[in-house]
Amino acid sequence: MIKKAVIPVAGFGTRFLPASKAIPKEMFPVLDKPTIQYVVEEAVASGIRDILMIISRGKRSVEEHFDRNPELERLLEHKGQQQELEQIRQISGLANIEFVWQKEMNGLGDAVKLARNHIGEEPFALLLGDTIIQSRIPATRQLMDVYAKHGGCVIGLEAVPQDKVSRYGIIKGHRLEDGVYLLEDLIEKPTVDNAPSNLAIAGRYVLTAEIFKCLERVTPDQKGETQLTHALQILLGKTPMHGMLLEGYRHDIGNKLDFLKANLLFGLEHPELGRPLREFLHELTARADDDWLGG
Ligand code: UTP
Repeated sequence: MIKKAVIPVAGFGTRFLPASKAIPKEMFPVLDKPTIQYVVEEAVASGIRDILMIISRGKRSVEEHFDRNPELERLLEHKGQQQELEQIRQISGLANIEFVWQKEMNGLGDAVKLARNHIGEEPFALLLGDTIIQSRIPATRQLMDVYAKHGGCVIGLEAVPQDKVSRYGIIKGHRLEDGVYLLEDLIEKPTVDNAPSNLAIAGRYVLTAEIFKCLERVTPDQKGETQLTHALQILLGKTPMHGMLLEGYRHDIGNKLDFLKANLLFGLEHPELGRPLREFLHELTARADDDWLGG
C-alpha cells in the first residue's frame, strides 16, 4: 500500500529562462491551473494524501498556492463569487502537504535524498513536479496497480521516437505482460545505436525505501549533481524493478515546446474553450505559410 508521495520542485529550470528566473516553472499555468496543482491532483486521485514537496529559495509561491488565503476567501464570499470560492478552498484542502528545503540544487537524486526522514521504511511514489501526465487513469495509480501485482519498484515509461533516445534515460528489459517489463538495465542518454529500446523514464516512480541507501552510494557527476538514475542502477541489482508503459500523454513543462503543446491539448479538451480554439487552429492552418506574423 502506497500512502506517501514525494514531489521535488526545487530545480532551477534553466531550460525555461528567462520566464523561470523569478517564477517557478512548476507554477507556470497550463490553461487555468499551475502545473504543480495537476501533479498534486494526480497523487490525490491515485489515493495518496500525504505529500512531501522538496522546495528551494524562490519557490515560496508553490507553498503559498496550497496554503489558505482567508482575505481572498472573504472577498470572494462578499462578492458572491461562489464558484471561485469553492475552487480556492478546494486547493488548500486537497492533501496534507509538508515541505523540505533543498539548500543547494545538486540534482534530482540529491532532492530525493531529503525525503528520507519523512518516508521512513515505506515504499512511496515519486512524481516530478514539472511533469504533467494527461491520462484517463491517473499515472501514479497505474504504477501502484503494477506494484500491487508485481512488487519491487515500478518506473513509468514513455515510448519516444528512436532518433530522440539520446535525450532520455532508456530501459533494457523483457516483457512480463502487456506494457509491463522486468528491467535489466537503465542507460542514461544512450546514443541512437546503443539504445536497447525506445522506452524512456517518464517522471513517475514507485520506489522502495532502499533507494535512499543507493543514493548515498552515488558519486556526484561532473556538474556536481547526484543523478537519480545512477541510484536506480544500483537498486536494480537488489530488488526487482519493473517498467510500465504509461497510458497517457506526458508533458515536460520545463521544456518550452512541451509547455505550448500542453496548453493546446488541455485547451482543446476544455468544455468552453475547446471549440473556439479548434476554429482558431483551423484558421491558422488554412493560411498560406507566408501569411504568418513575422513572415
Ligand atoms: P529537471 O531535470 O527538469 O531539472 O528536474 P531542473 O534543474 O529543474 O531544470 P533544467 O534542466 O535546468 O531546465 C526535474 C524535477 O526535479 C526537480 C525540479 O524542480 C523538477 O520538478 N529538481 C531538480 C529538484 O527538486 N532539485 C534539483 O536539484 C534538480
